[in-house]
Amino acid sequence: MQAKEILKNMKPYKPGKQIEEVKEEYGLDRIVKLASNENPFGFSSQVKEQLPALINQLEKYPDGYSAALRKKLAGILNVKEEQLIFGNGSDEVVQIICRTFLEAGANTVMATPTFPQYRHNALIEGAEVREVSLQDGHHHVEAMLEQIDERTRVLWLCTPNNPTGVHMTASEVRHVLSSVPPHVLVVIDEAYYEYMDAEDRFESLEVLNEYENLIILRTFSKAYGLAGLRIGYGVASQEIIQTLEPAREPFNTSTIAQAAAILALDDQSFITESTASNRKSKQELFKFLDDHGIGYYPSQANFVLVHLPISGDEMFEHLLSKGFIVRSGEALGLPNSIRLTIGKEEDMQVIQAEIKEKLQSVTS
Ligand SMILES: Cc1ncc(COP(=O)(O)O)c(C=O)c1O
Repeated sequence: MQAKEILKNMKPYKPGKQIEEVKEEYGLDRIVKLASNENPFGFSSQVKEQLPALINQLEKYPDGYSAALRKKLAGILNVKEEQLIFGNGSDEVVQIICRTFLEAGANTVMATPTFPQYRHNALIEGAEVREVSLQDGHHHVEAMLEQIDERTRVLWLCTPNNPTGVHMTASEVRHVLSSVPPHVLVVIDEAYYEYMDAEDRFESLEVLNEYENLIILRTFSKAYGLAGLRIGYGVASQEIIQTLEPAREPFNTSTIAQAAAILALDDQSFITESTASNRKSKQELFKFLDDHGIGYYPSQANFVLVHLPISGDEMFEHLLSKGFIVRSGEALGLPNSIRLTIGKEEDMQVIQAEIKEKLQSVTS
């Protein structure tokens, strides 16, 4: 048997620690997971109430075209139904883009560190990956543009960027869009869109019709709290969507996920309330970090990358022993840091105290 050469050097995605695993290992009753940027408030109660009704007709394949969700979302986003593609999470839309546009001899440009699935899927397709180091947590736009040549097929912009949480300003994104040659597809990954409130943020949908080489990715996994159902989407010109569609599995999103997404879209008060609470807790975290001289990136997402005077692994282990699962920066390509999802207010207060205690114990 002979697998693709590139796969010999690749490792499967290593998910964050699971709650049950940590409970058992540390003999703890309660674990708070702040590692995967999930919504600590769960998801809309309307989805929860109607979930039992959604299990009807599971013997049938789902609607492969997601017609009802498509109609609903197109209306909300004010785009044509043909401008949408749905995926088993936006992860799958990333994979579909790579399957469609990348191959040996082509290259793709992205920041580093950024969301790792761009690189992972590009490598599997045999493309050259050109990574440009972030500058202070920001995409280094000029250096990224310099990497583009006639073999570049896809440019990835992650805003706010995972794992730094830093967003690209409207003028930065506009500059990229007007500088990139038309043969390059620009992907703007907005997985954390609903959390953004910066005045200079880019409203990508407003320019969708101006650029034929643009696709926007969004998801129901973060603010909508439906990560376990796996549903995300891309919005682009009809031509781009038509080009991508043959690379999509025919029944890639489930009946339940499609129905839950419709119900979740109907409950915008859940989004308003949980993002407002998130912003408040994030501001309190920023204040705590400022008060204690701890550095961080100014995040526009539902997580914060905190800089530490010790290794991220050491802080990760300490917090784990206290019942908090976070992401160590070492695992994300940013040593001496942790990435912390913003949780419920009461949990944030406890984790802040634990961070403080750990840092006092190593500096005293
Ligand atoms: C920037 C970014 N894009 C995409 C995803 C994938 O999300 P999903 O596949 O759950 O839609 C994530 C998940 O963490 C992310 O951080």
